[in-house]
Amino acid sequence: MNHIRNARLRARKGLFSIAWTEGRITAVQPQADTLPILDGEEGVLDAGGQLVIPPFVEPHIHLDAALTAGEPNWNLSGTLFEGIERWAERKALVTPEDTKSRAHRTIRMLAAHGIQHVRSHVDVTEPGLSTLQAMLEVREEARHLVDLQIVAFPQEGIESFADGRDLMTQAVAMGADVVGGIPHFENTRDQGVSSLHFLMDLAERNDRLVDVHCDETDDPNSRFLEVLAEIARVKGMGSRVTASHTTAMGSYDNAYCYKLFRLLKKAGLNFISCPTESIHLQGRFDSYPKRRGLTRVPELDRAGLNVCFAQDSIVDPWYPLGNGNILRILDAGLHICHMLGYEDLQRSLDFVTDNGARALSLGDRYGIEVGRPANLVLLSAQSDDEMLRTQGQALLSVRHGQVIMSRRPAEVSLV
Ligand code: FE2
Repeated sequence: MNHIRNARLRARKGLFSIAWTEGRITAVQPQADTLPILDGEEGVLDAGGQLVIPPFVEPHIHLDAALTAGEPNWNLSGTLFEGIERWAERKALVTPEDTKSRAHRTIRMLAAHGIQHVRSHVDVTEPGLSTLQAMLEVREEARHLVDLQIVAFPQEGIESFADGRDLMTQAVAMGADVVGGIPHFENTRDQGVSSLHFLMDLAERNDRLVDVHCDETDDPNSRFLEVLAEIARVKGMGSRVTASHTTAMGSYDNAYCYKLFRLLKKAGLNFISCPTESIHLQGRFDSYPKRRGLTRVPELDRAGLNVCFAQDSIVDPWYPLGNGNILRILDAGLHICHMLGYEDLQRSLDFVTDNGARALSLGDRYGIEVGRPANLVLLSAQSDDEMLRTQGQALLSVRHGQVIMSRRPAEVSLV
């Protein structure tokens, strides 16, 4: 296949033909009307007036923990804290082969839903870094399905964990694409702040992106985001820095947020919210009223900051569900964030496509434009709101000009 006809593009009126050769888009042309596929024409797909979009983006997932729920024990309470206990039991059983096998299976789940760009955090608080090495191999082995960014993620802290700084430095030297952090988990506030200075310097020195698990708690006094934003502002690195979770912002008072947003806009950071994970894990110290435990997604969006949605976990000790379909996350996120207004629905796919691509700094490697990679996904609906309303699906995924996934929609008969 080298041509799609009768495609609808997001935010553009009418129908389009899209052509590609040698894995690059060579034409995106408006059509005056629906064009038939002629007898004997080869390599052309009729999109039938449905949306064709650049691939979905999964900007925050933990592939190294995926598909481990219940091994050896289930998280019975469903809390973050029991999740940590259950993971400690499973982590003792992890081997590089086990990590690779689960990561590959999970990547196939993602690719089956039209995702081609993935950022995975990988725990580097492990002497020897064998899990990181396994995931760096997965990054190469899975290239035919996804572009994978690996985050050096210090699950147990940088300053609070033995040799934490050395492990992070080694992880970057081994080839991690992104520098991570977890300041709210460090033993003291001072350690949290110094971990941010350390990781931002490490990223700047090695020309890496940054993605910090930041203030993933309901504690309104967890205020590391302002520190991360100020360092990013001073270094001029904002567009390359992402604050993941920032759930404490859902508990900050409005006066503090007013001041904070002034800084966030100057810094220009990216934000990732993991709505299913956060609604499940946060709010656990509340009786009623019970907080939703999410960051201020609509407020960040309205302020012009880049914010996107992610899955975080798939069947692991912290979250027992998930099937790789990011549209499920979008659906939940829009509900939880009070974002089912007309205008939000019209552009809802932004939160799992363009905004995720921007957080991952994909630049001109992403988007349906001449000269860019022929990475395209055909959807089962004509618009963003129809996709959401019908729980639509990705029907076809083209990567570098080759079809890597196709799905036949189920047929329903009624008497
Ligand atoms: Fe995470």
